[in-house]
Amino acid sequence: MRSHLLNGLTAEHYRSSVTEGVERVAAKLATTDRPFTGVTVDALSPTIDAIDLDRPLGDTVAVLDELEDVYLRDAVYFHHPRYLAHLNCPVVIPAVLAEAVLSAVNSSLDTWDQSAGGTLIERKLIDWTAARIGLGPAADGVFTSGGTQSNLQALLLAREEAKGDGLAKLRVFASEVSHFSVRKSAKLLGLGPDAVVTVPVDHDKRMQTVALAHELERCRQDGLIPMAVVATAGTTDFGSIDPLPEIAGLCAQYGVWMHVDAAYGCGLLASLKYRDRVDGIERADSVTVDYHKSFFQPVSSSAVLVRDAATLRHATYHAEYLNPRRMVLERIPNQVDKSLQTTRRFDALKLWMTLRTMGADGIGQLFDEVCDLAREGWKLLAADPRYDVVVEPTLSTLVFRYVPAAVTDPAEIDRANLYARKALFASGDAVVAGTEVGGRHYLKCTLLNPETQTADIAAVLDLIAGHAEQYLGESLDRAS
Ligand SMILES: Cc1ncc(COP(=O)(O)O)c(C=O)c1O
Repeated sequence: MRSHLLNGLTAEHYRSSVTEGVERVAAKLATTDRPFTGVTVDALSPTIDAIDLDRPLGDTVAVLDELEDVYLRDAVYFHHPRYLAHLNCPVVIPAVLAEAVLSAVNSSLDTWDQSAGGTLIERKLIDWTAARIGLGPAADGVFTSGGTQSNLQALLLAREEAKGDGLAKLRVFASEVSHFSVRKSAKLLGLGPDAVVTVPVDHDKRMQTVALAHELERCRQDGLIPMAVVATAGTTDFGSIDPLPEIAGLCAQYGVWMHVDAAYGCGLLASLKYRDRVDGIERADSVTVDYHKSFFQPVSSSAVLVRDAATLRHATYHAEYLNPRRMVLERIPNQVDKSLQTTRRFDALKLWMTLRTMGADGIGQLFDEVCDLAREGWKLLAADPRYDVVVEPTLSTLVFRYVPAAVTDPAEIDRANLYARKALFASGDAVVAGTEVGGRHYLKCTLLNPETQTADIAAVLDLIAGHAEQYLGESLDRAS
C-alpha cells in the first residue's frame, strides 16, 4: 500500500499515474462534441450504485477505465462552446497546471509553518487585487472557498463593526436581485428574520438609490442600526451593476459598511475596455471577488478584500498548537488569523501561475470578449420576434423568453420555456439556465466562453424555439 503514498520513492509512479489521467482528460476534451450526454439520474445511478467501495481495483488504469463510465463520459463540460448555463467559466491551462502542483505539494495556507512561500504568494495576490480595486494602503484580505464564504466573512466584519446593543436591530440592505448568500449569511450571523431589507431595482436591474436612501432614513428613524449595504457588481441573473458611486455616497452619509459583491463583475478589474463599469468599487469597505467566475480559474478560487486590515481581527482566534499570539509579535504571517477556515487549499497558486503566464491583460481580454459576445447575442435577441429579452447586458448574461405570437396565455408560455430548457438539456446539444422575471419563467445564457460564437447563440435560439414549438404543438393535440 505504501506504493500509493506520494514521496521520493514513488515519484515515478506519481508521474505515470498523473500522466495517464491527463491523457484521458485530454482525449476526452479533444473528442467531446456536446456539453452533455443528456444522461438522466435514473440511467446513471445504477452504474454508481453497483460499485463496491470495499473492493478496490488497485490499479490506476482500471480506475480510470471505470471513471469513464461513472463520471467522464457524462460530465457537464464547461469548456464546450455551447455550455451557456451558469456562472462557470472554462479554465485556463496555467491554472489547471497549478491545481496539479498544489494538490501534490499539498500546502495548507493556514500557517506559515505549513506553507512558507505559499503564504507570501497569497498575500501578494491579495495586495495585487486590492490595488486593482483601489482600496488603499491599509487594505488586506484572504482567499476563500467562494463568493458565499466571502460574502459571509464580509458581513461578519460589518456586524462586528456595527454591533451596539444586540443583533436584533441590525439591518442589511441589498437589492431584490442580490445573491441569496446575503440572506443566508444574515441567518448564519444570528440576525433577525427581517434583517435583510430588500431594495427594489430599476428597469436595468440596478439597485434604486432613491429607494435605498429612503430605507436608510426609515431605518434610522425607527431606531434600527444600518449594518451594511451590499451593492452587487454583476448580479447573478442579469450581470447588472448597482450604481456604486451613489451607494458609496449614501454609505458615507449614514456611516454604513459598504460591501460590494463583485463575485461575477470582478473580471472587469482586469478588463482593457470596460473597467470603468465598476468605478466606485474603490470606496467599498469590503469586496467579494470570485476568480472562479470571471478570471477563468478552476473551482475554487475566491477572495474577500477589506479596506482596513484591522477589521479582519474579528475573524482572529489564537490556538496554542497552531497560531499562538506570540507569533504576531514575531511577525510570522499566519493567514488563519484572517480566515474563517483553518486548513485551507493553496488556491492562490492558480491565479499566480495564470498571471505569471498570461498576465492580467490576457485575462481581461478574454473577459472583454465574452462581454462583446453578449452584446452580439442581445442584438440577435432584440431583432428576433420569437423572443423577449430582458436587459441589455452590462457583463455577459442574456435573459430571454420564447414568446410565440399565437399563444397569449403567459402560463402556457412559461411551460413552453421550461420544457424547452429541459429538452435541450436532455438532448445534450447545449445547456442554458433559467430564472424568474416578474413571476414568469425566463431562460438565461451566461456567456463566459470566448470560444462561443454568435453563430452558436443563434443555433441555440433555434433549438430552443424548436423544442418550445414542439411542446406547444403537443399541448394543442392534448387539448383537442
Ligand atoms: C453575485 C454572486 N455572489 C455570490 C455568489 C456565490 O458564489 P459561490 O458560488 O462562489 O459561493 C454568486 C454565485 O453565483 C453570485 O452570482
